[in-house]
Amino acid sequence: LRADLTISPDFVIAPVRRRTFGSFVEHMGRCVYTGIHEPGHPTADEDGFRGDVLALTRELGVTLVRYPGGNFVSGYRWEDGVGQDRPVRRDLAWRSLETNEVGIDEFARWARKADVEIMYAVNLGTRGVAEALDVHEYVNHPGGTHLSDLRRTNGTEDPHGIRLWCLGNELDGPWQTGHKTAHEYGRLAAETARALRQAEPGLELVACGSSHSGMPTFGEWEATVLELAYDQVDHISCHAYYEPLDGDDGSFLASAVDMDHFIDSVVATADAVGARLRSPKRIGLSFDEWNVWYLSRFHAAPPTQWRVAPPLIEDTYDVTDAVVVGNLLISLLRHSDRVVAACQAQLVNVIAPIRTEPGGPAWRQTTFHPFALTSRLARGHVLRTEVTSPVYSTARHGDVPVVDAVATHVPATGETVVFAVNRHRSEPVELCVPVTGTVTEAWALHDADPSAANSREHPDRVVPRPQPAAVADGALRTVLAPVSWNAIRVA
Ligand code: AHR
Repeated sequence: LRADLTISPDFVIAPVRRRTFGSFVEHMGRCVYTGIHEPGHPTADEDGFRGDVLALTRELGVTLVRYPGGNFVSGYRWEDGVGQDRPVRRDLAWRSLETNEVGIDEFARWARKADVEIMYAVNLGTRGVAEALDVHEYVNHPGGTHLSDLRRTNGTEDPHGIRLWCLGNELDGPWQTGHKTAHEYGRLAAETARALRQAEPGLELVACGSSHSGMPTFGEWEATVLELAYDQVDHISCHAYYEPLDGDDGSFLASAVDMDHFIDSVVATADAVGARLRSPKRIGLSFDEWNVWYLSRFHAAPPTQWRVAPPLIEDTYDVTDAVVVGNLLISLLRHSDRVVAACQAQLVNVIAPIRTEPGGPAWRQTTFHPFALTSRLARGHVLRTEVTSPVYSTARHGDVPVVDAVATHVPATGETVVFAVNRHRSEPVELCVPVTGTVTEAWALHDADPSAANSREHPDRVVPRPQPAAVADGALRTVLAPVSWNAIRVA
């Protein structure tokens, strides 16, 4: 098989946005407790943060972290997590007990150490405008008011300066505490946004889109919410999780086709509302939850007991999952003109690229690698990439290209990076890309056994390997292995 890519440095989609490489820390399972935070762990620092997890977070190349939820946030009282008195509360979303040992001040300290921006979600499930204003006053107001002075008394002199705010989480979902109709939510989002902007005009505000594109209200929800809040918000959220169903790996490997369609549909819906409102403004997409998640396993065995930080949805990822994750990043990059931020859900233990053992080691899952390499190598501009590829048939997405790809380019240095997947399960594909220069690095994530995974005992069973690739006669040539994700840099 053979695939050809056509790119030109003149055909630019948008700059690579650093916020594409976001992640998500929810108070869920072991993401916070024994994930990022474990006082007494051999690598713990003076604040109780695991040093091994901090180091892996930096290596992953994470730029932005959404916090504190997720479904958790829709029942959360932020003030439980500040000051001396930390009550234990029920978390209805995950049927867990929340000790509140970590709250916004601790998380902001962790974020500074990890060198990531915070995206803060307010509770619009059980709470409303007043509490959103309160948490904003606590975290962002410089001082001289009740809540900003409380923050200073609690030991954080300077405001946290959080710029990006989510107006609730998945409120279209009947599982959400405080679930709402599109009209109820659209009004609440608009008024919360208006009030937050009165407090601080420069904030960037994200309204909740649908929980996933299969929701019965998908499309209608976005249209109604934006009709009501178009002028008040900047972005609308998208969430998507993928898993192989009924052993259909062919469809699973083409998950990015669904993500492309999802993004295009939300852009079209938002622009249709903008046209009706005669607005020159363009709404951005915040893809603030995406990943591979074996959701059907969770539905088969949901938590039944009230426990502190129980292991929840600690999916182990294999090579096929990592190829899908790499391909989803290709889709996000390709839509950099409208996708302004994206968060892989989640960072540690909970459907995460980083896994930990309490008191023990931390290790990289297979999915860690395409994320880390894309974050490191994608620089400059995203180029329009035309792919000529053989196709294969899938049950869920129809005929799809075997090869999917995107390229980035730095005009100042002339460097080009091609990110490409081969979704075929048995056939290698020869890839040809007309470019000049020489290959400076090339990586492939692939294994003769696509179900190979990393574990505590074998943390480096699956790692990226150097990929044979060369530029000759004006073209980059390489052979993409079956079920592989690849990144090739030419300078
Ligand atoms: O990331 C896990 C959960 O998935 C989040 O809490 C929720 O927002 C989504 O349904």
